[in-house]
Amino acid sequence: MKNGALDIEQVANMFQIGFFRYELKSKERFVYVNTALERILDTRLSDGKQTKRFSSFFVHAADYRTLLTLLYRNKKVSHFKAVLKIDAKKPSMSTLLSARLVKTAKNLYIEGCLQVSQEAWQDQQKFLDEAHLMESFLDQMPDAIYFKDLQCRITKVNRFYAKGFKLKPEEIMGKTDYDFFPKDQAAKMIADDQQVMRTGAPIVGKIERTLLPNKTWNQVITTKVPIYDRKGKVIGMMGITRDMTAHANLEHERFNMLVNALTVLNRALGIRDPYTFSHAQNVARIAEVIGQELKFEENQLIGLKLAADLHDLGKISVPLDILTKPGSLTSLEYNLIKEHVQRCHDLIKEIPFPFALSEMIYQHHERLDGTGYPNRLKGNKIMLEAKILAVSDVLESMTSHRPYRPALGIKKALKELREGAGRKYDAKLVDLVEGLVRRNKGKPFWPIIKS
Ligand SMILES: [Fe+2]
Ligand SMILES: [Fe+2]
Repeated sequence: MKNGALDIEQVANMFQIGFFRYELKSKERFVYVNTALERILDTRLSDGKQTKRFSSFFVHAADYRTLLTLLYRNKKVSHFKAVLKIDAKKPSMSTLLSARLVKTAKNLYIEGCLQVSQEAWQDQQKFLDEAHLMESFLDQMPDAIYFKDLQCRITKVNRFYAKGFKLKPEEIMGKTDYDFFPKDQAAKMIADDQQVMRTGAPIVGKIERTLLPNKTWNQVITTKVPIYDRKGKVIGMMGITRDMTAHANLEHERFNMLVNALTVLNRALGIRDPYTFSHAQNVARIAEVIGQELKFEENQLIGLKLAADLHDLGKISVPLDILTKPGSLTSLEYNLIKEHVQRCHDLIKEIPFPFALSEMIYQHHERLDGTGYPNRLKGNKIMLEAKILAVSDVLESMTSHRPYRPALGIKKALKELREGAGRKYDAKLVDLVEGLVRRNKGKPFWPIIKS
């Protein structure tokens, strides 16, 4: 207070009372607002650039029309209740408006004051605090977080997401995955989004590989959940994607170390028994072609190839003179050879692989009708990979030269498979192998490695 005068602006600010003068006649615009009103409406009205009309703040257009009618009729209104909104993202506020109509020689103004009801003010502050908390949470998260609408358009992303594309979050609004990822990858992502929004069932912890703008691949883990409105209707989805590349690289290194150790062991077998070694390599090539024909995924194919490479590793424990013995084997000798499956299983069963490697190998001599070994498994109890190994094994053995016999040829191998199709060997795999040989004009469809 100065010389007993009241500082109106200070009082108005303290009690959040907004004062304004609004030009009505020549150009509708605010010509004066105090700081309190700027704060209430969360906008700068007094910078001369503000073109927002007073009517645009009214939630109900009819309220504004009533206000004008009352002003024209009575020249003033007191405690007029108006529900105002700042923008679509913020909640509406209940306000009390008192104003008068001021006519000058050249113009017409509304002058008045506006106050937000205390309860509404607190609600708005609470909402803004919560919104700030949420923004802060999203922006601090070291994961990519994104929201999409029903058309899979991005409606919001956090800073981490935007940074990945060297953009600002607002530059991503309205875009889709097709704007950032290769076409087939984006199509898969969008199919997942649509599935989540259609079924309401979240996708949790899906591991994917994505191609980054710098053309490097990364491995990510993604969770997607639907978003509902207050009535329980799905209005979009939210996703969180975490970069797992460093972890995946570590896993990959560990995996390579294991594979290298087994490869060394396998080579040791190769030195001792080159026939079995080259046989395994050829089986791996046959199995790989079959896996590719069956559209195996990358990891599944790696597992299958590795299982084929190592499937007879257990023969390292079988005396060489039995392995290379010409003529027929005694039942004792045959039983010793059969043990290679158990030996290999015992050797690698404790090693953690991302696929059931030891089981694939363990089952490669099982036959559909239960006449195989070591567990006489039947039909669907045998893994697909083991069924592929079985077919590949027969095909390779019969088309390769052995110390105890010459190669029998591909025709005899196919005859054996055809006769056993559906009984010993998976019929669909036999069909596939026949097709592959036919496509290759009756010759082996795999590159043969000679011992
Ligand atoms: Fe074997
Ligand atoms: Fe074999």
